[in-house]
Parts: sequence; C-alpha cells; structure tokens
Amino acid sequence: MSTTPSGGPAGGAAPSPVSLLWAAPEDSHAIAKLHATLFPTAWDSDAIKALIEHPASLALVAVRPGRDIVGFIIAQIAADEAEILTVGVALDRQGHGIGRQLVEGASRAAKRSEARRLFLDVADSNAAARALYASCDFTEIGRRKAYYTLPGGAREDALLLARDLTSV
Ligand SMILES: CC(C)(COP(=O)(O)OP(=O)(O)OC[C@H]1O[C@@H](n2cnc3c(N)ncnc32)[C@H](O)[C@@H]1OP(=O)(O)O)[C@@H](O)C(=O)NCCC(=O)NCCS
Repeated sequence: MSTTPSGGPAGGAAPSPVSLLWAAPEDSHAIAKLHATLFPTAWDSDAIKALIEHPASLALVAVRPGRDIVGFIIAQIAADEAEILTVGVALDRQGHGIGRQLVEGASRAAKRSEARRLFLDVADSNAAARALYASCDFTEIGRRKAYYTLPGGAREDALLLARDLTSV
C-alpha cells in the first residue's frame, strides 16, 4: 500500500511538491497531531489508527520529502457508496491545492473500489471546505439541523453533500 493513488507525484500549485500516498497505521500519530490543530474536537491516534486499518477504509496522506505529513483524508466505503469522514491540510500549507488533491485522490480511489457516490457532512459556516467541495463537483442534497455543537454550546447546521463518481 505504498503506491501513489494519482499514479505519480502530485504537482499543482503547492510551493514545494507534495505526494499523495496511502496512509499507514504508523502515520496515525502525525495525523492526530495535525487533526488537533484543525478541528475543535481532537481524534486520538488510536482511533485514527483503527480507521486506517479498517478493511473498508480509504486513507491518504499528502507528504513532503521525509514523509512530512501536511494533509490527510479518511473515507469509508460501504457497498457502492463512500463517505469522507475527515480531511485537513496544515494551516501553513492551505490554499495551494492540497485539499483538492486529497479529495480528488480519494474520489478516484473510491471509484476504483466500485463506489458510485461519495458523501460528506460540512458545517454551514465552513467557507473554505464548502469552496473546496464545490470546486470538486459536490452538490448539496440535504441539511441536518443543529447537527454540530460549537464551543460554548451553540448549534450549527450540517450540509449533506454528494458527488457522483461515475464521471470521475
Ligand atoms: C478545507 C481544507 C481542507 C481546504 O484545503 P486547501 O488545501 O486549503 O484547499 P485547496 O487549496 O485545495 O482549495 C480548493 C478550493 O477551495 C477554495 N478555497 C480554499 N480555501 C478557501 C477559503 N478559505 N475561502 C474560499 N475558498 C477557499 C480554493 O480557492 C479552491 O478553489 P478552486 O479549485 O476553484 O481554485 C482546509 O481549509 C482545512 O484543512 N480546513 C480545516 C479542516 C476542515 O475544515 N476540514 C473540512 C471538514 S468538512
């Protein structure tokens, strides 16, 4: 599981090249550390390791030389559907196309595993993530009212998005 899902090093607009690789269980600590800088609710490394090892999971990392992890995406596949559970890019590497590479890489990998649709939830106010998903051809198919609890206790809607993988 060390091939590059995109078939080669991922180029694009990043200031220095990143490669997209399958995540390994040994990456779980680095992913957990990065995840904690990006989300209000941290996921512990054991939970991330279990997800990476799960037979139905699809997990990729964006790395710089030396396996310096600057992004991750974890999805799960069930029959002909897949769901993105989490995706993130290091704060100092955002805005250079890495998020898009991760979503496109996971979309292609899910399609190769015979998934026909890819789903995810995103917070209504998460403008960066919504822009990323819009640019990757996701469309809104529903809304979960007051789905997220914010720090301080306020609630926020989640948007349910889906992407048709048949044309990916
Ligand atoms: C969402 C996230 C993964 C995007 O990663 P990224 O590497 O910065 O995204 P990219 O550079 O690949 O940008 C992809 C598209 O989104 C747009 N975009 C990215 N950040 C944006 C922002 N802050 N505001 C508006 N648009 C933005 C880009 O312009 C680009 O659009 P284009 O393809 O039409 O040019 C990143 O912001 C992140 O890790 N956020 C914190 C974790 C998070 O919220 N994850 C998603 C949970 S649902």
